[in-house]
Amino acid sequence: MPEFIPLISEQEIKVRVQETGEQISKDYRDLDLVLIGVLKGSFMFLADLSRKISIDHEIDLIGASSYEGTASTGQIVFTKQPDLELEGRDILLVEDIVDTGHTLSKIVEFVRLLDPRSIKICSLIDKRERREMDIDVNYSCFSLEKGFIVGYGLDYNEKYRNLPAIYDLKL
Ligand code: IMP
Ligand code: MG
Repeated sequence: MPEFIPLISEQEIKVRVQETGEQISKDYRDLDLVLIGVLKGSFMFLADLSRKISIDHEIDLIGASSYEGTASTGQIVFTKQPDLELEGRDILLVEDIVDTGHTLSKIVEFVRLLDPRSIKICSLIDKRERREMDIDVNYSCFSLEKGFIVGYGLDYNEKYRNLPAIYDLKL
């Protein structure tokens, strides 16, 4: 049986999501904000964050999945493209966790082709130890050195996304 070690409580998540939403509301006050959630891990964070952003904004989704296994070259396949017109707009990509950074750097490269005015990154968790790509995480609620975590959208083999708090998973 896997062991779940409590890492971040529901209350701690709530506080940091509120603070992050307030900061984004200030920073984007005079801009044309579009939140783009990265499927699937960001769904819970996106829903809560959006409710803490007090300025008008629009929401879209992008789906990207990485091939795992054999050659770990960070190959990304897009499974869902944004529907909104993004040209000239201010994009904030919303992610669950940034690890090596390969997924997000591919997504940034793709979104840049749609000609937005700006692209920034907001991640619930910034996991630093295995970072391989030079990307800026502009907003993060929590930093983590290492470990594999689940809950609040984050999965292990598609399970445990529903947990309302975040746990360190020991297999
Ligand atoms: P990256 O391309 O290495 O930055 O990987 C990012 C993706 O890997 C995230 O969007 C997650 O879907 C997944 N991932 C990385 N670390 C974890 C973790 O600790 N728990 C659950 N999923 C993770
Ligand atoms: Mg993800």
